[in-house]
Amino acid sequence: MDYKGRDNMEVLIEEMSKSRISTMPNILFGLLEVFKDPKANASHFVEAINKDQSIVVKLLEIANSPAFGMGKVSNLESAFILLGEDMVKELVFSLIVSKNLNFDGGYCDFSAAKLWENSLVVAASNKTICQVYLGDYDDCNYLDFYTAGLLKEFSLVMMRQFFYTKEFKSVISKRFLNKIDLHKIEKEYLGFTHEELGRKLAKIWNFPEDLSYIMGYHHTYQASDVFLSKHLDFLFHTSQVSQWMCYNINERMSERAIKFGYTHSDLKYIDTDVVSSLDFLNIDEVGISSLENILVSDVKKLEKANWLVVEK
Ligand SMILES: [Fe+2]
Repeated sequence: MDYKGRDNMEVLIEEMSKSRISTMPNILFGLLEVFKDPKANASHFVEAINKDQSIVVKLLEIANSPAFGMGKVSNLESAFILLGEDMVKELVFSLIVSKNLNFDGGYCDFSAAKLWENSLVVAASNKTICQVYLGDYDDCNYLDFYTAGLLKEFSLVMMRQFFYTKEFKSVISKRFLNKIDLHKIEKEYLGFTHEELGRKLAKIWNFPEDLSYIMGYHHTYQASDVFLSKHLDFLFHTSQVSQWMCYNINERMSERAIKFGYTHSDLKYIDTDVVSSLDFLNIDEVGISSLENILVSDVKKLEKANWLVVEK
């Protein structure tokens, strides 16, 4: 990285460190530990979630939305019964990550809200692929896969929030006008890529190694010959298929495309990388259709509950 990249990244990180977003990782991974603990039960989860009243309020709001309730859910125990454990955990994670984000405005086809929608859908797809295809592997917990989907592009969200500069907007408009993958041009304008920023953020926040690699190498993983673990391979290939599923569904359901959020590259059609990920996970044509159906129904649920951010 050249001096321009280092300087720009320093500015971004300095701004970010003054924001409340810097407390997000501790809260998220503290909860992840409780949520993944095989000995923990609903009362442990409730106790952990109750520490953050803004999350509790939002959860109850969703549980009482027409999509789920009849306006009678007044505590977390009832929300667990009504929504189910998986959904409460996913809601809590997405709320923790998103609660200090700025979703105002947008530029060309980009906005933080649309990018966040995409992250939510990728996270939901990651969870399903993990549950359907990786259930036999002990170390594949769907919450890790869900979290990877949520945070894969988090460095881009941070760029929007703390580095919304002329240079950043140039990258966005260039990608939009010329249909170039964003990660291929950002170095030229910013001096750093969102993968490089992802690696830096993961280091600052002391993220687990696999998640750091997903944030830091999700575009270059296959070319970089990185092999750390089977778990990371699963995480990478699952995230790649999930990202592709968003485009795939966009193509087939064009009127709903906007709802699947901002996608920063143009991987619309199946290519050799996606084929190798599908093969790696043993997902065939029938599997793709079935995953698509689950994803469409999950997205409907997200929309009904107003869980997807409504763009301002
Ligand atoms: Fe990316």
